[in-house]
Amino acid sequence: MARASLIACSRAIAVGPLEERCLTLAMTHPVILLFGATGDLAKRMLWPSLFHLHCDGLLPEGLRVLGTSRSLLTAGDFRLELDATLRRFGHAEDISDLNLAEFLARVDYLALDVESATDFQSLAAALADAGEILCYLSTSPSLYTAICTHLRAVGLAGANVRLILEKPIGHDLASSRRISDAVGAIFAEDQIYRIDHYLGKETVQNLLALRFANSLFEPVWNAAAIESVQITIAETVGIEGRWSYYDDAGALRDMVQNHMLQLLALVAMEPPANLAGVRDEKVKVLQSLRPINAGNVRRQTLAGQYAAGALAGTPMPGYLEEDGAVARSTTETYVALSAYIDNWRWKGVPFFLQTGKRLGRRHTEIVVRFREVPHNIFEGAQAAVQSNRLVIRLQPEETITLELMNKQPGLYGVQLQPVALNLSMADAFGTDRRRIAYERLLLDALNGNSTLFVRRDELEAAWLWIDGIHTGWVQAGMRPVPYAAGSAGPVDACDMPGAANCDRNG
Ligand code: BG6
Repeated sequence: MARASLIACSRAIAVGPLEERCLTLAMTHPVILLFGATGDLAKRMLWPSLFHLHCDGLLPEGLRVLGTSRSLLTAGDFRLELDATLRRFGHAEDISDLNLAEFLARVDYLALDVESATDFQSLAAALADAGEILCYLSTSPSLYTAICTHLRAVGLAGANVRLILEKPIGHDLASSRRISDAVGAIFAEDQIYRIDHYLGKETVQNLLALRFANSLFEPVWNAAAIESVQITIAETVGIEGRWSYYDDAGALRDMVQNHMLQLLALVAMEPPANLAGVRDEKVKVLQSLRPINAGNVRRQTLAGQYAAGALAGTPMPGYLEEDGAVARSTTETYVALSAYIDNWRWKGVPFFLQTGKRLGRRHTEIVVRFREVPHNIFEGAQAAVQSNRLVIRLQPEETITLELMNKQPGLYGVQLQPVALNLSMADAFGTDRRRIAYERLLLDALNGNSTLFVRRDELEAAWLWIDGIHTGWVQAGMRPVPYAAGSAGPVDACDMPGAANCDRNG
């Protein structure tokens, strides 16, 4: 934003409103205002992202970062803590006394109670010479309305302010609408950037390049050629001390409502006319999801909850034994869904979505499974033809693999075997430096580019579908089934539509 504005300024003829704006900007500096500056997300992701961008010279000149939270710290104490945080979570190659000192010189801190009007007056005073302001709300969503209302009251909701909202925005469609209405009464939709960090992941963006910068895939990207699509986000971590948040959310709200539906939408959407049209196309996919309700919820969904088990030989507690746990909780820590998109392109193709905590292996991938050849001309057990698969792996490595059937070298008969055409990001681009997904998204928000952020209508279409599943679970009396920590999740998931090549053994 500031950069774009300053470029405009350097080209401006010194007359009219632009001139006035340029004069104002010349005396001000851009600011990122971070609410929740001492929280877990800020420590692990946001501050390290800003630090990396600083080290790469990608932050706008003069940008300052003002952290706020309830913690009664002085700016000096906060910087000391931040120094330790960055040494712990920052990329090793960026850590040096000089880099840290330069970055910390951009950083300030203000203890602030988001319910206190007086504290917001102090905030406004601290931002007296701020130009463009990017407010990042990394707090509980229950505070969003109060923060926005106070920001307006102290004159910090003008056209120079953009707002990044962290998930979860609401707990269901109704609460999401309440938040959106309240925030939307203060900020225009084009000032609001709803962040889903999955959209900042390199391979997710590469999915757009794969689909729309190659002519190879589009003719076969439909129900005629594709048998199923599987999207898996399997985590080995548990709930990481976030019991009260997680128990209220569960896997469906924590992972499916946002990250998994975003991945699904990117795989399934129609080609947009340009990048700005991506959000229009994604929302159409979400609105075409076949509702899941009491009638089909047993066939199309499966919820699980981890019980005690072991991961790589280390004993792990069950969900109900985690710190802060309430013994009778029926929150799901695993969910599998067979989703259908009712449109011409995807009629009848199951999208099998699966995510869970404390599974045996961490991997996030999208598998597009093509239909088998209509007729096999080869004979014998060694010549069985398997479906081609396009595997887009996001984690732990970033790779794209196309599995093709090949003949094994040899003179006797034909022995077939799937062989992978492998594109590893690290090998192809000679770097194994992984960027934090937030880096790209912060930069986009600074530059006013909202393509990779979630629009209100997308959010609401996702909630509507998720609410249907929750209601279906209640009406059908479904409860999560137990699975052992360290396993591949409930085995029954393997019998669900679209669950081809299901990992029964972890
Ligand atoms: C967050 C969820 O949005 O995504 C966490 O709240 C989850 O529960 C995390 O662990 C997964 O993100 P990533 O990038 O590690 O796959």
